[in-house]
Amino acid sequence: MNANDLDNRDRRGFLKAAGVAAAALALDGLPRAAGAASGSAPKTKIGVVGSGRVGGTLGTVWAKAGHQVMFSSRNIEHDKTLAARVGPNAHAGTPREAAAFGPVLLVSVPYRSLPDVGKELGSLLAGQIVIDTCNPFPGRDGEIANWAREKGAGLASAELLPGARIVRAFNAVGSFRMGAAHEQPGRIGMPIAGDDAEAIAVASGLIRDIGFEPVLIGGLAKGKYLMPGTPLAGERTPDEIRRIAATLE
Ligand SMILES: NC(=O)c1ccc[n+]([C@@H]2O[C@H](COP(=O)([O-])OP(=O)(O)OC[C@H]3O[C@@H](n4cnc5c(N)ncnc54)[C@H](OP(=O)(O)O)[C@@H]3O)[C@@H](O)[C@H]2O)c1
Repeated sequence: MNANDLDNRDRRGFLKAAGVAAAALALDGLPRAAGAASGSAPKTKIGVVGSGRVGGTLGTVWAKAGHQVMFSSRNIEHDKTLAARVGPNAHAGTPREAAAFGPVLLVSVPYRSLPDVGKELGSLLAGQIVIDTCNPFPGRDGEIANWAREKGAGLASAELLPGARIVRAFNAVGSFRMGAAHEQPGRIGMPIAGDDAEAIAVASGLIRDIGFEPVLIGGLAKGKYLMPGTPLAGERTPDEIRRIAATLE
């Protein structure tokens, strides 16, 4: 079996292992600023759509942590070069191949590209766990960023990536710091938001695996606070995040 094969038994086994603590998270009552499910992640396959500063950095640290990663963008040569540099746990493919690669997909593109990504991936998104790092900036992304900010970035991403089980994360920490958290595991908190307990548990394990401590601030509607320029932005301890999150509407 090569790295592109998606074995449903592997996927089910991984989700079962990763989701052990998920049952404790009631979907209707996601705890405010709770510690997300504990424990790091079993080794898995992570597709990456958008292999720039964020996708390239996170894919690299996940590959170094033992996960299989497939980088993708609209430039396969860039992705092949990146994968070769990262090593044997890294692969390159098209965005559709990355979406079919494993149980988790990191989407990390400029917000204006999200409609195209949603259309291109289509039915591959159904039930897929997606970690969404994408931030809407009107100056960069145009009118869609105003729409997303009005709606709230989490809910807007869910509309643009229909069927995906989205967890917003890595939205307001600089990409240059994303590869450094493992130096002091647990010191830096990572605020996350999502509506799907299993997706939250899986994302939490992967976040913890690279040194951040995930802090669930609430459902996807709270994703509007996971952006630069909000009180949660920047590098904070888990306790600071919990304190700030408790003051948010
Ligand atoms: N930089 C940061 O510190 C930071 C921190 C937190 C969150 N964010 C957010 O995370 C997202 C990514 O940021 P970044 O700094 O990593 O951006 P970036 O360096 O510009 O990388 C964007 C990646 O997306 C790819 N891409 C663009 N359109 C695509 C499409 N339609 N299909 C497939 N791939 C596509 C680009 O490659 P091609 O154009 O060759 O396809 C590139 O690989 C943004 O929404 C940003 O606001 C950034």
